[in-house]
Amino acid sequence: MSDIILDCDPGHDDAIALLLALASPEVRLLGVSTVSGNQTVEKTTANAIRVLDHVDRAEVPVAAGADRPLTRARHVAANVHGETGLDGPGLPLPSRGPGAQHAIDWIATTLRERADPVTLVATGPLTNVALFLARYPELAAELERVVLMGGAFGEGNTTPAAEFNIWADPEAAQRVFQEGLDTTMVGLDVTHRALMTPAHARRLADSGRAGKLVADLYEFYVRFHSRAYGWDGAPVHDAVALAHVVDPSLLDTVHCGVVVDTGPELSRGRTHVDLRRASWEANCQVAVDIDSERFLALLIGRIGSLG
Ligand code: RIB
Ligand code: CA
Repeated sequence: MSDIILDCDPGHDDAIALLLALASPEVRLLGVSTVSGNQTVEKTTANAIRVLDHVDRAEVPVAAGADRPLTRARHVAANVHGETGLDGPGLPLPSRGPGAQHAIDWIATTLRERADPVTLVATGPLTNVALFLARYPELAAELERVVLMGGAFGEGNTTPAAEFNIWADPEAAQRVFQEGLDTTMVGLDVTHRALMTPAHARRLADSGRAGKLVADLYEFYVRFHSRAYGWDGAPVHDAVALAHVVDPSLLDTVHCGVVVDTGPELSRGRTHVDLRRASWEANCQVAVDIDSERFLALLIGRIGSLG
């Protein structure tokens, strides 16, 4: 079993990743930290709590983090996730606020309290992770590894060059990739190959409260992907990263060098990946293939098990 912290920006796919974590005995969710990304940190924090409320998990700590990138202007993804960041299901307002500690201080406290190593699953911009590493460099060694949803060695989704989580805060991402941690990058190259479809949503809708919530999230979230890509389905990016911790056999990875582009807009947030391992020192496990069918079967089955 892996002790994990989920640092996220709910966001439809973050919410599904959170439910998958709660449904998977292979992971023990120590808590959730939230960051500005898909929406403002106030909204992503409220959304994390709303999802936990929906499955009666009020004991899971939620710590609010950075309200903007390290240096770049804040850009939210309302075009994908709506004004609330979780448009569609119409979940009730959150039952509680976040804990008193800032996310990076809560992460530090949590790591100090744990005897076992902790995996940090990051599914939003990496602002909190970079701030944590800067504020608590002595605790980096307490992180067993970082599994992040972000980047692409192929086409981006926010610009042709860059994927949103890295584009939103490239300086933070650069810090994380350069830290020398055991880092796994789960990028668009694999998440775009495992689309949730209407058939999956119908099965989920009949599988219980959690499944109905995911089906309702999907109904809103698929609209962007139908418009933007012409797909009859939607990638559940963040759930792929979480699923990699649950079952590492779902993804194939290559250990190679990744450099984050912190330049001007044209290449901003590009993850330059030395897939042939010809040039740069390897600093990351990059996901290059996915067993899409097994991933989706795991996701649907586990969400259904939440009742
Ligand atoms: O580019 C996709 C990623 O950006 C996902 O994590 C999504 O939730 C957004 O944060
Ligand atoms: Ca996300």
